[in-house]
Amino acid sequence: MAVAAEAAKLKAAGVSLMDFGAGEPHFPTPRHIKDAAIAAIEANFTRYTVVPGIPELRKAIVERHACDFGSDYAVDETVFTSGEKLALFNAIQVLVEHGDEVILPVPYWVSFKDIIQYAGGTVVYLETEEAESFRITAEAIERLITPKTKAIILNSPSNPAGNVIDEADLERIVHVAHERGIYLILDECYVYLNYESKPVSAGKFAWAKEHMIVLGSLSKTYAMTGWRAGYALGPKKVVANLSKLQSQSTSNATSFVQKGALAALAGSQQCVEEFRAEFKLLRDYIIDALKTIPEVTCTVPAGAFYVYPNVSAYIGRGGINSATELATRLLHEGHVVAVPGEAFGTSHHIRLSYPVTRETIDEGVRRMKSFLLGL
Ligand SMILES: Cc1ncc(COP(=O)(O)O)c(C=O)c1O
Repeated sequence: MAVAAEAAKLKAAGVSLMDFGAGEPHFPTPRHIKDAAIAAIEANFTRYTVVPGIPELRKAIVERHACDFGSDYAVDETVFTSGEKLALFNAIQVLVEHGDEVILPVPYWVSFKDIIQYAGGTVVYLETEEAESFRITAEAIERLITPKTKAIILNSPSNPAGNVIDEADLERIVHVAHERGIYLILDECYVYLNYESKPVSAGKFAWAKEHMIVLGSLSKTYAMTGWRAGYALGPKKVVANLSKLQSQSTSNATSFVQKGALAALAGSQQCVEEFRAEFKLLRDYIIDALKTIPEVTCTVPAGAFYVYPNVSAYIGRGGINSATELATRLLHEGHVVAVPGEAFGTSHHIRLSYPVTRETIDEGVRRMKSFLLGL
């Protein structure tokens, strides 16, 4: 957000920027989803609804999840929220008490850390190895568990590095958490954007349902970031508390957004496949482009829509001492928007969000190269 604010100032001053900052698809929301919401407005579906979402939408959430991932949730085990971020925020408020520890793999999406801390929780960082594609294992998690561990957060595919936890590792982690009565909070925002293997959700391990909160988002899957549409799936008791908390903040998510979400989840899934296919091509395109910059290395992300190149070779040159300084100067001097790794808990990277045109990738990487080589 800080980068976006700086970039907006430059744009307003007339500077042409190559923008890899925003974490959102560049596609418009599919026609059938827009039509459903427009029809809902025209039909005056514009009043309060029940807090956890209209019953047909909750049914569509659990049916889509069961169909795609083999999970087994009942309608009263899901709540629809104004964006997945709210489901995450509420889940942490409900589960985490002052002094509780929450295990968080690095690199992490920044909101995880801030939301845990806002709830009074202590973040316990799980360091990963870039050489192992930031792999997260049950053994590494086990080593960090203490009597105060309340929850573990997993985000696969991940923002920012695009690493994916494979099914075998995921099952072992679910075992570890379930056996110890620790909650697993699974952020599945990018679950459909998996380029190397069949998407997997921890929700399929129904035997561990008691200790899992699965969070889903329509933002990236259906190009609906501005609509604010997400959900949580979890044990009935926890979901009832999420709904109770929501009843004292947003109440229901916007009525006609719920109708759009229903069309997205219950309608044709062809758009999801088309988006995925295009993102995979863009991933390969940007990875190839980055290879033209000497001494920049980049793990090939297996999912999501970010690349997380390692720029450490350039830190220490031209008066630059951190990824934040590098991203700031890249913005002001190279006119390229990237997010520094410090925002995600690492100091040698920048994050580029690649749902952009191929022309933006070409020009953006050309500018980055010329800026870095000039240091
Ligand atoms: C890992 C992760 N989780 C959750 C979200 C938020 O999703 P939503 O738009 O549904 O609130 C984002 C958005 O960038 C994200 O990257």
